[in-house]
Amino acid sequence: MVVLHAAEPARIVVDVDKPGHAVPATLYGIFFEEINHAGEGGLYAEMVLNRDFEMTTLPKGAKWAGNLLRTADDWQERKWFGNELWGWQFIADGGARGSIRLDDREPLNGRNPHSLRLTVREPGTLAGVANGGFWGMNFVAGRWYDLTFQARTGGADRLDITVALESANGRERYANAVVRDVGGAWKEYHVSLQAKAGDRCGRLALTVNRAGTVWFDVVSLFPRDMFLNRPNGLRPDIAQALADLKPAFVRFPGGAIAGGLNLDNRIQWKNSVGPIAQRKGTMNLWGYWTSNGLGFHEYLQFCEDIGAAALWVCNPGFSDNYRHAEFAPADQVKDFVQEALDALEYALGPADSKWGAQRVANGHPAPFPLRYVEIGNEASSKVYGTNYVQFAEAIHAKYPSLTLISNQRLKDVPVAMVDDHKYGNPASFFSAHDRYDNADRTGPKIYVGEYACSREVGEGNLTAALAEAAYLLGLERNSDVVVMSSYAPLLCHENDVAWMSNMLRFDNTRVVRRSSYHVQRMLAANRPDVVLPTRVEPDAAPKDCALFALAGLDQKSNEIVLKIVNRSNALRTVAIQLDGCRSLAKNARVITLHHDDPTAENSLGDPEVIVPHDTSVAISGSEFQHPLPANSLTVLRIFQKDR
Ligand code: AHR
Repeated sequence: MVVLHAAEPARIVVDVDKPGHAVPATLYGIFFEEINHAGEGGLYAEMVLNRDFEMTTLPKGAKWAGNLLRTADDWQERKWFGNELWGWQFIADGGARGSIRLDDREPLNGRNPHSLRLTVREPGTLAGVANGGFWGMNFVAGRWYDLTFQARTGGADRLDITVALESANGRERYANAVVRDVGGAWKEYHVSLQAKAGDRCGRLALTVNRAGTVWFDVVSLFPRDMFLNRPNGLRPDIAQALADLKPAFVRFPGGAIAGGLNLDNRIQWKNSVGPIAQRKGTMNLWGYWTSNGLGFHEYLQFCEDIGAAALWVCNPGFSDNYRHAEFAPADQVKDFVQEALDALEYALGPADSKWGAQRVANGHPAPFPLRYVEIGNEASSKVYGTNYVQFAEAIHAKYPSLTLISNQRLKDVPVAMVDDHKYGNPASFFSAHDRYDNADRTGPKIYVGEYACSREVGEGNLTAALAEAAYLLGLERNSDVVVMSSYAPLLCHENDVAWMSNMLRFDNTRVVRRSSYHVQRMLAANRPDVVLPTRVEPDAAPKDCALFALAGLDQKSNEIVLKIVNRSNALRTVAIQLDGCRSLAKNARVITLHHDDPTAENSLGDPEVIVPHDTSVAISGSEFQHPLPANSLTVLRIFQKDR
């Protein structure tokens, strides 16, 4: 037991000459779910809110009940929008008259049955529509923005449309261009605009030059500057923050969202590939419209781009348990299995397979790095086992090298890996640092697919991060059985905090890395190749303990890597004893994350209250004293000269 009561002097003893099990390279990954506008208005760089005008589309069988959406199984979710053209407004000046409305006549296609109809009776000096984006559009002076929109008129009628990037009230114009002769049947138009000035809260305007009627659909504006310049791409600052974690894997699309509010509302990957005008959006389980522009292909591309394996969660033939699951009849589960097989063929299949050919057509000839499939999320029902077997047999038959992950341990069914989730307060995390010490080594491997210290910790303070660090040291110590982990949720827009603690928070211009982010980055970057037996003396029970420590060996660099959490509110000087080590370098590298106030938090306004500091300290030999700041995570990297 590697713990110590706060008042006692401490010694950390490492048996350097008794290396234990290997620490898998898969241990630290990330979990993405469309929650808190993580993707829509966040990671996904689309700037137009409600670009497809489908926001009022309900999951099958659901109804609006005042400000709520109610499913047939009586689950209620918030209704996030205020009117049927949410995000859009009619704009007029100089005596212009006209209106906008949602229209379902002559739709663009079956997946986009609604469009916006703009009728201008009197053009005045300006008449048209504007979209303010997700809490304002961020324009940066000198940068380019690429606009595409679909438009039609009632017949042969043609209009000129002026498109502009402007201030929220329209008084300042940063860029504009005229698209001439818009009209006739549905057609896609493209315009590029360079902002001559910056505005963090601007809007897009489309105005007409005379009286008439025009229909718009899939109006899309992307900054030219996106992560790795991928089209239909990602906001570079958020994507880079994720890439900086160097995650071994990315789990997507969730979370509860994989199940959905009901079966119709589950994530349906086929709606999320191909040209954006052909995609079908979803009123997602977290109560807001998702265009599915950030879809199956983009998730896989992101994994590949950041060198991570993809972990895809499929629907198991029923919707989310917690939200009064709707079950597919037993004879229809095969359709859900086929849906999963088709997804895998898209990701991994040869170019001459049906779905592999689609991947090629969408610009990716080679297979994607999809390595894991989790069948469902947090499913606890009895049906799960029966469905799991159907999915597992079919997937294994075609893709024997994939690792399948189960939500439960199943009686009489061999399972390679199970997903354990943990949310709680700091006390529960500190005491769970030994949770896997006695885990069954003969059973399935464990993936801690969601964890976060999210209770009694403000919006995610230093105490939360240290509690997670102590817990993660426990996972690493047991990484012969716990082979993967991912914090959840990952991302949160400042204006839609559906879940309090999240790893990164952002608004339209800024991203803040919470202290939990720094903990994961430090632990992942300092993942050793093998663990070393580590004990804190004197020993104590987990409850009320102050120190948690774990050492390992980085065999490539020949370094002893020692990680220590000091959760007490006081500086602690500890004796570090490295038994059986070779000759050591005179200096060790020390990376420390700490703050005197354990309730301190990073925020958008003050993003660097808690950041790691990298220094070096002199060490006197295999036994030395080291001061651990109050409320800290410390990583010591000590080079062994002759091994
Ligand atoms: O991480 C947020 C939610 O918490 C996930 O969607 C769900 O799996 C869990 O209950």
